[in-house]
Amino acid sequence: MPNPTPVRRRASFVFLPPVVAATVGISLLVQGAFGQPNFELLEERAEQRELAGWVVPTLELTDYLYPRLATGFAGSEWVVVNKLRPLSPLDFEPQVREISSSESLDNSRGLELRDVAATALEAMASEMLFQGAGQMFVNSAYRSYEYQRELFVDKVDQYGEAEALVRSAKAGHSEHQTGLAVDVSVPAQGCAIMQCFGDTVAGKWIAENSWKFGYIVRYERDTTSITGYTYEPWHLRYVGIEIARTYANNGIHTLEDFWGFPAAENYPEIAESTID
Ligand code: DAL
Ligand code: ZN
Repeated sequence: MPNPTPVRRRASFVFLPPVVAATVGISLLVQGAFGQPNFELLEERAEQRELAGWVVPTLELTDYLYPRLATGFAGSEWVVVNKLRPLSPLDFEPQVREISSSESLDNSRGLELRDVAATALEAMASEMLFQGAGQMFVNSAYRSYEYQRELFVDKVDQYGEAEALVRSAKAGHSEHQTGLAVDVSVPAQGCAIMQCFGDTVAGKWIAENSWKFGYIVRYERDTTSITGYTYEPWHLRYVGIEIARTYANNGIHTLEDFWGFPAAENYPEIAESTID
């Protein structure tokens, strides 16, 4: 496994956290005063931007507060989950549906995602095959709290705790539990769920094009000091087209940096003594 090197963080990200803290504070006040975020309005605004042909949308202040707040909602497409940000509730269960198999997408394991993420994956696989980058196979998708717990324990048995911690999330801390994350491969090109997948035709196509379908490669090369995990070119996270496009167009490599959240290399001290 490559030795992860820390990523240089932009100056704006150094100054962003205090601004973020203040923004979140204000947004909580707004939330308390006015109730739930108006997701319909946000979607409407995103559609208007899309129709106006904006490439990099400029979030207005009113738009900005809601998405930030939504990063704490387990049921939001914008949720940010990492070693410092557990899902709430910890055993959150999304509504999911089976991903449709087709000539471009092999879901013979019958795996599930949230509808919006499944629909986007199906569209991405279709375009990937059309462009000659191969037939996608779904290795893993939605994982329940209990299943993730078992996976983590298995990884500890297999690799030891230190290695397990950079390969697998503890239950309640995995993006797979949101129903918005999927692990894919193209068996015909080899390197399934291996880092060399990033060097295959399919891996390169996905890294370059997944944002067009609302997905990002969540654990990029050399971002371990921020995400807490080693390079996973197969792990795709649905964040919606607007966020994915802004993320890609601005050369951002982690959701932590995108939102200005602290690096999450390790779990908080209090959780260190447990393995689930
Ligand atoms: N492999 C990723 C980090 C997970 O377990 O969610
Ligand atoms: Zn994954």
